[in-house]
Amino acid sequence: MENFEHISVLREELVQSLALKPGDYAVDCTAGGGGHTRILLDQVGRSGKVFAFDRDAWAQAVLHKRFAAELESGQLTLIQAPFSELVPELESRNLLGCIQGLCADIGVSSPQLDHAERGFSFAKSGPLDMRMDQTRGPTAADLVNESTEEELIRIFRDYGEDPQARSVARAILKRRAEKPFAETTDLANVVASASHYKERSRKHPATKIFQALRIAVNTELEELETLLQDFPKVLASGGRCGIISFHSLEDRLVKQGFKHLVDGNKPRFDRHVPITAAQLDAMYEKRFQIIKPFPLEPSDQEVERNPRARSAKLRVIEKL
Ligand SMILES: C[S@@+](CC[C@H](N)C(=O)[O-])C[C@H]1O[C@@H](n2cnc3c(N)ncnc32)[C@H](O)[C@@H]1O
Repeated sequence: MENFEHISVLREELVQSLALKPGDYAVDCTAGGGGHTRILLDQVGRSGKVFAFDRDAWAQAVLHKRFAAELESGQLTLIQAPFSELVPELESRNLLGCIQGLCADIGVSSPQLDHAERGFSFAKSGPLDMRMDQTRGPTAADLVNESTEEELIRIFRDYGEDPQARSVARAILKRRAEKPFAETTDLANVVASASHYKERSRKHPATKIFQALRIAVNTELEELETLLQDFPKVLASGGRCGIISFHSLEDRLVKQGFKHLVDGNKPRFDRHVPITAAQLDAMYEKRFQIIKPFPLEPSDQEVERNPRARSAKLRVIEKL
């Protein structure tokens, strides 16, 4: 695919926090245009290796061209699979417990969003698809045309946090009884009329509905949950995992997942038991530590250069 341009976010922050060294093994769970993959390759050098996942065939085709030399030398391995398959993919290469740095930059790439034929954008007329992996799973059109009203309300409410979920779902059911949805702009127009869209309001009402459908079509939260459960199995001792998310639902999952790893085996005492923090720390083996107490966010300059970076948050954890 031509013009596959994606500006990578939080590049410096990722380099600093993963702290990779020459000879290390690293994983990029979401290679996209390869910006972060390039950083990992530079950090691990010729004696190291990078394993990069992306489930999108378009991204894979671009990555194969961009990294022909690194693929040839064996420094880079590209894996066309969802990152929920991290453990089986690395296990088959005898790499469990061998990874010093793993990153994931969750969500869609700019080319996926910007190319009308992928169906992610409500502003561009195209097929209502939204699948990152176009070889499997229902499309957004399948969900919109076949889900029950209750299922649609749940998707719009849970993944879009949209207060108009109910009225939009009802309008979809009414319209699809006459003619099923096939086009992005078709759905965007129905959403706009159902939610009393005001031309001057900052966000188009379809923003949240499209985001919710995208999350549902690509089972994005389930993918992230699996990654949060599984990445500890691939990390070496001292290995770090950095996850960049763009959505509060995802950031909450990452925050809770990391907290569980840090505190999961901490003994619990009634708050009246007189015990100091140091005594408590001595009672259990710490297996993980959070690298920064707060998520790293892009600088004002980065947001100015790349407005899509504005909601990015990077959290990093280390396996002890
Ligand atoms: C935000 S882009 C990544 C951009 C990349 N970090 C860069 O610097 O160019 C996200 C990419 O991850 C892929 N992706 C999203 N979820 C995935 C998943 N669960 N498994 C594998 N790839 C996924 C998408 O297809 C997309 O290409």
